[in-house]
Amino acid sequence: MDQEFFTMPRIGDMAPDFKAMTTQGMMQFSEHIKGSWTILFSHPADFTPVCTTEMTGFALLEDDFKAMNTKLVGLSIDSIHSHIAWVHNVKEKMGILMKFPIIADIDMKVAKLYGMLQPGESETAAVRAVFFIDPSGKIRLIMYYPLNVGRNMDEIIRALQALQAADLHKVALPLNWRPGEMVIVPPPKTVDEMEERIKSNYEMVDFYLAKKKI
Ligand code: BEZ
Repeated sequence: MDQEFFTMPRIGDMAPDFKAMTTQGMMQFSEHIKGSWTILFSHPADFTPVCTTEMTGFALLEDDFKAMNTKLVGLSIDSIHSHIAWVHNVKEKMGILMKFPIIADIDMKVAKLYGMLQPGESETAAVRAVFFIDPSGKIRLIMYYPLNVGRNMDEIIRALQALQAADLHKVALPLNWRPGEMVIVPPPKTVDEMEERIKSNYEMVDFYLAKKKI
């Protein structure tokens, strides 16, 4: 198998840059994402049922993502003509307009760059990948789903809220965390910090598991 299929960006890597045609015109990715959060997500193919549910899900929440300083960028290995026809069809049949750019990755360049082509699943269609990229251009969270299982929009939003809360408050987020719930204070790194922690009024199981409100 072609080695380039196996490029897999990892959490903490800078998002690989590329130039590509999208439903909103040419895009230099590094320029497009500068200064905002970005969710780059792939779908296997236009005019397919699961993808239609997912893409309309993103479209319906586009304003919510915008309010979270987050841009959406879709991608599939389809032509720009196919994308435009699908966007038009979905608007006509469902009354939902996919305004966010969708990359026409017909030569699979971007899909290969982001490990979206996983040959054991399909050699010609991208899996359902989601890359969360922060305003500095760093990849912060990655999800991969197979062709036959749709993603969970609640979890995508929750993960974005968790990443943003972690950055803003310098905290970590526990299992199933939701906004409004207590957050984890990073564990002490020195004995002095541990002594301080024990005297603190955080909600504590022990010094290494302390929670606070934000
Ligand atoms: C779908 O979106 O329904 C789909 C796309 C590719 C393979 C299987 C399902």
